Amino acid sequence: MKGLFLTLEGIDGAGKSSHIDALEALFRARGRQVTRSREPGGTPLAETLRGLILEQPMDALTESLLVFAARRDHVVRVIEPALARGDVVLCDRFTDATFAYQGGGRGFDAAVLSTLERWVQSKTGAEALLQPDITIWFDLAPEIAAERLAGARVPDKFESQPVEFFRRVAAGYAARAAGEPRFVRIDAARPREAVWQQIEAALAGRGLLASAAGSAP
Ligand code: TYD
Repeated sequence: MKGLFLTLEGIDGAGKSSHIDALEALFRARGRQVTRSREPGGTPLAETLRGLILEQPMDALTESLLVFAARRDHVVRVIEPALARGDVVLCDRFTDATFAYQGGGRGFDAAVLSTLERWVQSKTGAEALLQPDITIWFDLAPEIAAERLAGARVPDKFESQPVEFFRRVAAGYAARAAGEPRFVRIDAARPREAVWQQIEAALAGRGLLASAAGSAP
């Protein structure tokens, strides 16, 4: 089967991580091999960079370069080989997060981010960049996300930002999603079960829940 690249996006506290196990089970039940990963991270080098990105103060260009350096290693070592094998790649965040957090949240130049995106996601011999086939965008008002996060755990560098930062991140996601058919907007303010139903309906509606050849539905 053809590989499928699925990403989950949204502001901190939107609840995306709580659906990854169910997504994996959904695809495995259809006989698909699943590679699960996250960004920043997904390789030993990228996980080391993640620690720096999430804990160290740095200017927005340094942050963007580190995020894309981590992404390059992840794309080359994990994502591309998994897609070539025909896996479903479930990735908690990808480049849309960079446009939302570094571009929207930190106000960094989107043209520079687009250049880095082209360098990092270009495919040998192909015009089109590597992009997710489908991006599940958990859309939630920043005020509600902040309430959900409050007291949950020790916040990292981004999670401890004020609500205005997350308003800009949310606007960054909305701008990135506009007119991009790969985005599925999920109303993440709904109860967890209703959120899951939206996800399942979106995948089914796009014909992404077919079984792998020779396995039970
Ligand atoms: P997150 O995915 O929320 O992981 P966890 O659930 O373990 O906290 O954390 C990753 C953080 O990194 C999140 O605050 C968003 C940020 N981030 C960026 O700023 N730019 C990026 O390109 C990516 C992938 C993440």
